[in-house]
Amino acid sequence: MVSGTTAGSSNEGSLTTPLIVAIDGPAGAGKSTVARALAQRFGLLNLESGAMYRAFALKAIRARIATGDAVALETLAQETDVRLEPGEMGNRVLLDGADVTEQLRSPGVTAAASEVSVHPAVRRWLVGLQQALGAQGNVVMEGRDIGTAVFPHAPVKIFLDASPEKRGERRYEQNRSTAVPTEMPAKVLEEIRARDRRDRTRADSPLKPAPDAVLIDSTDLTLEEVIERAAALVEQKIGIGK
Ligand code: C5P
Repeated sequence: MVSGTTAGSSNEGSLTTPLIVAIDGPAGAGKSTVARALAQRFGLLNLESGAMYRAFALKAIRARIATGDAVALETLAQETDVRLEPGEMGNRVLLDGADVTEQLRSPGVTAAASEVSVHPAVRRWLVGLQQALGAQGNVVMEGRDIGTAVFPHAPVKIFLDASPEKRGERRYEQNRSTAVPTEMPAKVLEEIRARDRRDRTRADSPLKPAPDAVLIDSTDLTLEEVIERAAALVEQKIGIGK
């Protein structure tokens, strides 16, 4: 997308300067769905930063490198190419040129992504790639540190949260409706709590709202309500809000 234009007939907004929308929050808060809706509505590139951590985790698993081995992971990162190809239905993810999108949602890759993401060298590398992607302008990027570390100057920052129970429930339902191997609801909740803990307590760019982020708690909201609130924030920024 080029600054000053909108793409597709569903767009309501008209962008005059490149826009970056940062959406952060814990697993299962609904970030991907909201990001996709905003991308469609405002003609933004939709970039899922978590998919990059997942692709790298897949590579580490294949290389039989332990997720705690910081040195080996740093070397592996130097030999790895991760690319996102944004599309209507989400991102395709290329790992060293091969499309690995369908392999990134298994419980093993999910856990490993959370574990490799604590290492500063891994974060530095992926944050650099994410910033380069954002330089295209007019993007919505979701993750854990987008508003705090990747795009600290993003004009729109949203921190999307919900109770762990609600997030576990949603993730379970989501997994059931896709090809992801199904785990019991209690197990899904346990994994969500473990990932939350790791994301919130890691030393390097932990998950937390940026000081200027708008918090949306989706626990008692419908998806449509969350999308409308998020869209209103974008509209305010691009000057078509009330
Ligand atoms: O968002 P998603 O669940 O796909 O992310 C997978 C993992 O990657 C998360 O559990 C988190 O630990 C890590 N991640 C991160 N920073 C981001 C995006 C994801 O640390 N910006």
